This record gives sequence, structure tokens and C-alpha cells, in this order.
Amino acid sequence: MGRRFFVGGNWKLNGSRASIQELLEAWGKADLDKSVEVVISPPAVYADFLRANMPAEFGLALQNVYKEGSGAFTGENSADMALDVGADWVILGHSERRSIFGESNELIGEKTAYCLGKGIKVIACVGEQLEEREAGNTQAVVETQLKAIAAKVSDWSKVVIAYEPVWAIGTGKTASPEQAQEVHASIRAWLSKEVSATVAAETRIIYGGSVKPSNCAELGKQEDIDGFLVGGASLKPDFTTIINAQK
Ligand code: G3H
Repeated sequence: MGRRFFVGGNWKLNGSRASIQELLEAWGKADLDKSVEVVISPPAVYADFLRANMPAEFGLALQNVYKEGSGAFTGENSADMALDVGADWVILGHSERRSIFGESNELIGEKTAYCLGKGIKVIACVGEQLEEREAGNTQAVVETQLKAIAAKVSDWSKVVIAYEPVWAIGTGKTASPEQAQEVHASIRAWLSKEVSATVAAETRIIYGGSVKPSNCAELGKQEDIDGFLVGGASLKPDFTTIINAQK
């Protein structure tokens, strides 16, 4: 089975009704590659509005979901709420959640188990900091993060792995296609060894970190890069060029 190309747009803490309207117009006008799975992740307050107005074939992701269904957890969103507004995906383990909000591998594992159990698919993010890369620890860091997530996954068809080197996020400094491919291949090899050859062959591993219209085609040509998780460039009308990277 071939791996369907996956392009996620992570808006982070950005967007407004007006900016969403502009994007809806751009998406509506574009001739989009229908073979690509597109999943948009707005701030949770806009999820309902976006679901109601964006193309039906686009998926919707929340940027975070808590590991409990309801209760006294001020500021959090639940998996049931995500499902209620039509979100079928959640991003977990994003480096901003790890570094700014102190999310541990353990918590990310717990959230992964919880969301999958509720029927929400997971975009699971991993990636090293610059110092970790420079110290030659990229693989070890990524494998530790993967291990915490993989321990909670029984159905890998519901998971996409996003490799996002932290030094490339929002910096304009993209990993070269070779650098990204090298880590993607190592993640696939890890899956093959630790999970199964079938899971390794079928699981999508997408790249995130300063992906833009000018570099998406080269990155997308790499054997083990099955799509992108796009931050800043997903807020612009020409995000459609990234969706069409393989066209
Ligand atoms: O989730 C998306 C990534 O953090 C990449 O963000 O495209 O703005 O570098 P960026």
C-alpha cells in the first residue's frame, strides 16, 4: 500500500475570522491535488467555524487535547469536544508544547493513548534541539520521544509521525532535504525494528520546520518524506503550492 501524501497546516496561536476568510477563498480558487490528505489545525476557538466552512475533504486537527474527558482543567480541551466539533486529528508532542508548556514524554504518551482510545488520530511530533544535533544526539533524542509514543499505539494507521527539528521551526532555517531524509529513514528503520516491517512501510513520516512554497518540492521528493507539517506558511494563501508540492 502506498503512503498517501499528508500536508498539515498548524496555525499555532494565529488567525482571525478575517484571515480564515481569505484562506477559504484561496483554497476555493486553487486546483488542489486531490491525492493529498490535507489537515488544518486552527486555534481551538476557530475549529467549529473552520469545519463548517472549509472543504469537506480537508481534515481538522486540534493543536492539543488533554488526557481527561471533563472536569476542573481550566484552559484545556477534551477529545470528546474535538470530536463534537468535527476534529478527527490532534497534534501531540509539538516542540512548543514540550518546551514552553513543559510537556514530558510521559504526558505525551498518556495523551496519545487517550486520544487514540477516543477515536482521534494523532500527529505525533518528535525532533531534536540544535545543541542535541550538534552533540550528535539527534537519533537518540528522537528515539526516546518515539518510544514514549509507540508504547501507547496499537493501530498505527491512526498515527502520522512528524519529524520537526526544533532549530528549523519558525527560523527560516530548513533542514536540507538530505538532513531530513536521513532522520526520516532512521525513524522508519526504528519502526521496522521496534514495531514491524509493515508498520514501518505504511506509516507516514512528515517533515516540519520552515517548509515553504520554495522548498517543498525538493523535500517532498525524498523517499521517506511523506508530507509536511507547516506552521507559518500555512497561514498564507500560497499554502496551496505546498499542498500541490507533488503535482
Ligand atoms: O507545526 C509546525 C512546525 O512547528 C513548523 O513551523 O513552518 O513555522 O517552521 P514553521
